[in-house]
Parts: sequence; C-alpha cells; structure tokens
Amino acid sequence: PLYYELSGLSQKEQQLAEKFGIKKVIIIPGSFRNEASRILLGKEASKLLTSLVEEGSKIAVTGGSSVAAITPYLQPVDSLPTVKFIAARGGLGEEMSLQANILVSQFAQACQASYKTLFMPEFLSEQAYVAMKAEPSVQEIIRLYEQVDIVLHGIGTAEEMAKKRGSSDADKALLKEKGAVGEAFGYYFDADGQIVHQIRTICIQPEHVKQSRYVLAIAGGEEKVKAIGAYFKNAAKQTIFITDEEAANGML
Ligand code: BG6
Repeated sequence: PLYYELSGLSQKEQQLAEKFGIKKVIIIPGSFRNEASRILLGKEASKLLTSLVEEGSKIAVTGGSSVAAITPYLQPVDSLPTVKFIAARGGLGEEMSLQANILVSQFAQACQASYKTLFMPEFLSEQAYVAMKAEPSVQEIIRLYEQVDIVLHGIGTAEEMAKKRGSSDADKALLKEKGAVGEAFGYYFDADGQIVHQIRTICIQPEHVKQSRYVLAIAGGEEKVKAIGAYFKNAAKQTIFITDEEAANGML
C-alpha cells in the first residue's frame, strides 16, 4: 500500500480505467517479466476471482503465461468449489503447460471445482470445422460458452501469438497486411480494436464475452503496450484489467 501511494499507482489505475472506459484497472508494481511481480499478480488475480464468483459460476479461461500465474494461489474457498472452469478455446498450438485445457484442469484441482476441456487442432479446414461443430460434445461446450458468467483471458501481440501458434509465413504476411497488432481468444485485431482475422477453430465468440457478467483480462510488459491499447478500443465495458507498472506507464 505504501508503494502504491508513493508511486501514484492508484491514480494511474483510475486514469487507465477512464481512458479505456472499463470497470476497473489493477496495476501490479514492476514488470510481469520478474518473478516478484508474477507472484503479486497471481495473488491479486486469485483474490479478485474469488470475490467475483457466485454459486455455480461458469468461467471461461484462455491459455498463456499471464493467466497461468494464478494457478498456485487458487484455493477451495467461498463459492470456488462450485464453479466450472471451461477451456475458452480448443487450440493445441501453444506450449503444452500453458494451454487453456491444462489450465482449467489445474484451476479445478486447486479449487476442488469442475472443468470442461475441448481438444481441437489449431487450424481446421472449412469442411472439418463444419463437421466438428455438429458433434454433440462440441455442441455441449458451445452451449456452455453461451452461458458463461466470467471470462478470464490474456492479451498477446499479433506477432508473438502467430509465432507461438506456428502460423505459416503466408498467414503471418496476411496478418501484417491486415494491420493486426494484437490477439485475444484466437482473434486478431488491428490498432482500432477491430477483429481482422480469426483462427478457424472452435472457441468462445466475442458476443459471449460481451454478454458475460465479468471479464478479467491479464496482460503486462512493455512489448504489449500497443496490443493492449488496441484491444481496449473495443473491449467489453465490464472488464477488470490487471496489468503491470511497466505497461501502465507505456499506456498513459
Ligand atoms: C493465449 C491466449 O493463450 O495467451 C491469448 O489464447 C493471449 O488470448 C495469450 O493473447 C497471451 O499469452 P501470455 O503468455 O503472453 O500471457
């Protein structure tokens, strides 16, 4: 708290929330690159999530290292054991330990809650996509997306995410041409926050995110300043955004 006052972080939190037109911003001192900040992030995010859940809440979760930072701090307290963690997308393109499917199972284990995974190749052909969508198990998860109460997600730079997903050179060139600067939930957006490209796989849709009760976004680091700024030009108003001091300074 003393550091917060001395460094003016709470004032910056308010400024950013106003600038982005969202519910709340929480700034973690330092940079998510450092272990000390990641620990604070994990504690803060888990505290927040615990305060937001209600009996039986459905929580969609994306992958990524920022969201993964919460895992060690989740506990079976309050309503958490009654919630369901749902993989927000089925993509298998990333580092195994940071995939949404893995995170939901770890979260659920930590809280003694339940979870729902979705295993799906990262890039589906049109034909495979249509066929998959008709599968009863896929229909079931799509129904869950429609009822999601809380969305927990990371934000990445378009370049880094395309690299992580092993996108082809042609796809990377296409992203560049379309002006993609950032990515969230498998959607790539431009500097105005407009979706310019979407991976053909089963995942939560922007309208599901917009109609959820709370959105908890986590992203920090100097390198994400542009991507974050763009994302919040068109983000859900009920978003609570947890970032680090490094990115916050870059955005103000
Ligand atoms: C991915 C999410 O898993 O992580 C993306 O699907 C997000 O929505 C990305 O942009 C961010 O990853 P990290 O490791 O930088 O937090």
